Amino acid sequence: MSLFLLVLLPFLLLLLLFKPFMAAKTRKKANSQNPQPPSPFKLPIIGNLHQILPVPYRSLQALSLKHGPVMLLHLGQIPTLIISSSDSLSEMTKTRDISFSGRPNLKIPRQIGYNSKTIAFSTYGDYWRHSRKICVLHLLSSKRVHSFLPVRQSELSSMLSLISHQSSSGPVNLSPILYTFTSKILCRVAFGRSVLEDQCRLMHDYIRELTRLLGVFNVEDYFPSLKWLDRFSNLDAQIYSLFKKLDGFISSVVEDHIIAGVRDDVAAAGDLVDVLLSLQKDDSLEFSLTMDEVKAIILNMFIAGTSTSFIFLEWAMSELIRNPKVLKKLQQETRMVAGKTSMVTEEDVNKMHYLKAVVKEVLRLHPPAPLLLPRETIENTELQGYKIPAKTRVIINAWAIGRDPKFWDAPEEFMPERFMNSDLDFRGQDFDFVPFGVGRRICPGMQFAVATIEFTLANLVHHFDWEMPSGLSGEDLNMEETQGLTMHRKYPLLLIAKKME
Ligand code: HEM
Repeated sequence: MSLFLLVLLPFLLLLLLFKPFMAAKTRKKANSQNPQPPSPFKLPIIGNLHQILPVPYRSLQALSLKHGPVMLLHLGQIPTLIISSSDSLSEMTKTRDISFSGRPNLKIPRQIGYNSKTIAFSTYGDYWRHSRKICVLHLLSSKRVHSFLPVRQSELSSMLSLISHQSSSGPVNLSPILYTFTSKILCRVAFGRSVLEDQCRLMHDYIRELTRLLGVFNVEDYFPSLKWLDRFSNLDAQIYSLFKKLDGFISSVVEDHIIAGVRDDVAAAGDLVDVLLSLQKDDSLEFSLTMDEVKAIILNMFIAGTSTSFIFLEWAMSELIRNPKVLKKLQQETRMVAGKTSMVTEEDVNKMHYLKAVVKEVLRLHPPAPLLLPRETIENTELQGYKIPAKTRVIINAWAIGRDPKFWDAPEEFMPERFMNSDLDFRGQDFDFVPFGVGRRICPGMQFAVATIEFTLANLVHHFDWEMPSGLSGEDLNMEETQGLTMHRKYPLLLIAKKME
């Protein structure tokens, strides 16, 4: 035995000494045949993780200016492709959309989302295709979005009354008001007839907690081989406890719907749970929906629909306060089109071209999901001549693309006029402007979202004159953001609202 070791040891030592060179040589050879995207210098173990802080979309933009619009980072153990130009996004979508349509199997969406059964976080495959089809054809179709108009109107009317009431005693904290408003719309649209005010408040708190957790760092998503380390934080316990609460709540609402029976007029006036339960019974459907899948789809509507619309409205009001000329022009438009009325209607909104330009400009500067949702390549592919292996994580920096000076004049300025007399749109055809994403994974809730945000913004500026409190001017408004999957204002938005005479 000892003789065996004595003979073997020098070989092992030589092997260890030469291994790095052999590996480097192999890598070099592989590099010349299969060019890899440029990468910034990385540190051992953490790779480039330290370089994406403190504000990922800003740091990634700065890195892309040095290393190019297609670059490869190593976030911990995860090779991550960063796309920061419309050219590369256009090539990706037009020629290789399927290859880039996967989603990584991330810890929290998997554990909270019934084993990755939410549409947004399920990987590319049959389940995603079927559930997305349900979403597009049955839950978020134009007809369905229109059928929810009474919900939008009644929640808007309550919100306007609340603002009037609060404004009589000083500045109004718009942030919680807007959050509750978007969250109640989703709650009534999803749960409909059976839902009580208190239940909506509960769901609202759970979704807020989930949004917080989605922004928390966990080891598994960056160092899969060290995922056991997560057990030492209490993150797993927090996820489990939230899942139990969410599941218990959604299950009880679904149960109530089952007991009440599927309504006859579900096609015209059902809520989202009604629609899903009736589809579950529909034998003509090409696949069957389990109860967990029904609950996951409902949960997805809340995750995707609540904070995005709220974030938009918060930034829109912030930009309008900082740009009083734009606010004035927008008010003139709403007051000219709608006149003195208790509520601007959706027909009015469709005639308001400047409003639509303001909405686009807010989405350009403040896309609620600045890095969209992470993708993953489902097979070996290519982009801009670089070889991209299967299972590479992909991040699209929509925030940087919306501020690229190669395309946008004065990109940091808030100028809705740039969208007047222009066909540029966010519906997935213009790769310079992608707040709702692109390709097969583009947001299916866009119509729902746009109906809500245009209608709400038009009414907010139509009913009130807005000012900063304590004699401050709009320029004093702090525009700092917080970090997470979405881009919130860091500080609540406190404004004086004066009712229009
Ligand atoms: C201003 C509001 C909204 C914005 C900015 C927004 C943005 C986005 C973005 C960027 C994505 C990822 C797209 C990609 O990967 O390319 C997405 C996906 C999604 N959104 Fe939205 N969204 C909004 C509102 C909504 C609403 C109201 C709903 C539904 C009630 C919704 C449902 C979804 C779903 C289900 C997905 C997943 C699509 C998939 O993976 O196939 N969104 N959204």
